[in-house]
Amino acid sequence: MTLSPLRHTMSYNNSTTLVMEFWVIEMVKGNRGDRNRSIVLSTQEKSLYLSHLLRLDKPVSIETIANTTINQDIFHAIPLLPDQCIDLLFIDPPYNITKSFNSTVFRKRGLEDYASWFASFIIQFTRLLKPTASIYVCSDWRSSSAIHYTLEQYFIVRNRITWEREKGRGAMTNWKNCSEDIWFCTMSDNYTFNVNAVKLKRKVLAPYKDTNGNPKDWEESEAGDFRFTYPSNIWTDMTVPFWSMPENTDHPTQKPEKLLAKIILASSLPDQLIFDPFLGSGTTSVVAKKLARTYIGVEIDETYCCLAEKRLDLATKDSAIQGYSQGVFWERNTLIEQRTGGA
Ligand SMILES: C[S@@+](CC[C@H](N)C(=O)[O-])C[C@H]1O[C@@H](n2cnc3c(N)ncnc32)[C@H](O)[C@@H]1O
Repeated sequence: MTLSPLRHTMSYNNSTTLVMEFWVIEMVKGNRGDRNRSIVLSTQEKSLYLSHLLRLDKPVSIETIANTTINQDIFHAIPLLPDQCIDLLFIDPPYNITKSFNSTVFRKRGLEDYASWFASFIIQFTRLLKPTASIYVCSDWRSSSAIHYTLEQYFIVRNRITWEREKGRGAMTNWKNCSEDIWFCTMSDNYTFNVNAVKLKRKVLAPYKDTNGNPKDWEESEAGDFRFTYPSNIWTDMTVPFWSMPENTDHPTQKPEKLLAKIILASSLPDQLIFDPFLGSGTTSVVAKKLARTYIGVEIDETYCCLAEKRLDLATKDSAIQGYSQGVFWERNTLIEQRTGGA
């Protein structure tokens, strides 16, 4: 067993950031509660997965980097990537708050500075994207206006999805912050949108019938009455990953696999290339792999890269995505219906 420092960044009152440092025993599952299913790295696993990571020092072809994790500063990696190779770009950048990401800290800056930082890599992505590509960018309410303004200059902005992520700190003098924006853009009017792949299966609250007594736009089944609804730009059917979920890691801003599954299924086709320049714990690559897409992820922190590699390994044996089963997205709290089929 080894001792290692663990830094925790917490925001409260929406203005102050606390950085707390704990000393913890090496992150192995046995040291956590029995019901904690978080993915952790042993020392041996870390050295194994370190050997899988790439670092680029010259221009590369897609074949060289397909289905890999690149452990590098995105600003160094982008100039070495080939032209027009990306079908779907998912960007979950550090938001404009001071936040520790293990080996690096992102520092809050003025909105204009944040917009310039964001634009400095967005402009470089225009070279890497196919003319048919889609782009999704995450933001919180603080950074959203800077991100929207910048995206409008390079892409066709098609929508802003609001994700009610539920988890968030209550505040005595402000509204609890529990939503995030996801901007949806395309390079042109020629793009993929598979609406039927991302309909939501919902319980029917008002089971209207037509004049012949047949269900109106819904289905009866032993597990209950359900309707498939068109996906809207308000997403309320998923939480941030937490300790009892098998996809959870110690990454402080990990996105749920279900969120990436919606984006990837809606905006790409099998085998197409999904690119994530701020890969974190690997969610985008893992879901791309589970859904038979090609993936490339870039992440500056080597521990997060190793977590991503471990998750990719686990995905070889288990391609389940919580909240998406039998090819269907389910609303929350329907686990029993999912197990019994619900159709
Ligand atoms: C918001 S998190 C992404 C979380 C990810 N979506 C997930 O599900 O785990 C942003 C990530 O960007 C990484 N990062 C920050 N600056 C970077 C840079 N210049 N190049 C590459 N990665 C960077 C951080 O280490 C952090 O893991």
